[in-house]
Amino acid sequence: MIITGKYPNLRLRRNRRYNWSRKLIQESNLSSNDLILPIFLIDGKNKVQTIKSMPEVFRYSIDKLDKIIDRSIDRKIPMVALFPFTNKKFKDNYGSEALNQDNLVCRAIRYIKKKYKNEIGIMCDVALDPYTSHGHDGIIKSNYVHNDKTIEILTKQSLLQAQMGCDVIAPSDMMDGRIGKIRKSLDKNGYELVQILSYAVKYASNFYGPFRDAVGSKTLLKSDKKNYQMDYRNSNEALREVALDIKEGADIVMVKPGMPYLDIIKLVKDNFKIPVFAYQVSGEYSIINQGIRNKIINKDAILESLISFKRAGASAIITYFADKIVKELK
Ligand code: PBG
Repeated sequence: MIITGKYPNLRLRRNRRYNWSRKLIQESNLSSNDLILPIFLIDGKNKVQTIKSMPEVFRYSIDKLDKIIDRSIDRKIPMVALFPFTNKKFKDNYGSEALNQDNLVCRAIRYIKKKYKNEIGIMCDVALDPYTSHGHDGIIKSNYVHNDKTIEILTKQSLLQAQMGCDVIAPSDMMDGRIGKIRKSLDKNGYELVQILSYAVKYASNFYGPFRDAVGSKTLLKSDKKNYQMDYRNSNEALREVALDIKEGADIVMVKPGMPYLDIIKLVKDNFKIPVFAYQVSGEYSIINQGIRNKIINKDAILESLISFKRAGASAIITYFADKIVKELK
């Protein structure tokens, strides 16, 4: 602890007196460079569909993507994350649709890459939950999400996404050993420059509800994900997860959810000095959004929530507020 004086000689409020002075001593900053916008996709034409549990967030059909991608580029958001709402008729126990090269995500990647080239990055989730009839991230054997069989499919899913033009492969499944297998397969097939953003520290959280609604897995999921996602009581375990994923070849690691886990972001950053991304998840979004709509909290709460990630050490934040907040950053 460094203390250079004491009251009344020392008055910390002096530096806070004026806006200009507060600006000069700012320790953290947020710009559009720090933001990633998640986009939900839906089949069909001419659709911009509302999502009940996520006001002001929409599902877009591919022919309507221009609107949101143009806006992202215009607002200098470096990357979008694609998530598909998959029609029930395409779901089965094995999540086979994940490997269909004409599935919604694949078509969307091809469309965006063809039109926008490298003007904006694309990241895609690697996990089976949008595609399984039981809503789990992997395939189930004897009532248990089977690790190694799931990885086999995830490895193929990753390769397919890379072939379509995805820039950043983001496994969000929490299977053991998947980063290494995915890296190896990408490299073997000539995709050694495709990045892996590992959801290394993903907690079994109550804050994912609205997302599951948005991708259509909520009603299908009959149990929780606690035997693969992390227990929210743990933080040492987070360091073990990150250490493993770095060894296996992760370029960037993610901590998820966001605000209840700022301690974990800081812990990971301090220990590994690797880029850490934070995911301000759907439940966090909806709570803040509701609070603002109901005039319980002020709109500036959005900025406050996002700055908290920067203060904790996050390099970037995945947030449904990304396209909504940029104007206020100027
Ligand atoms: C799926 C996945 C989830 C989220 C991102 N990818 C949900 C889950 O694991 O059940 C949550 C994102 C959010 O809540 O905004 N693997």
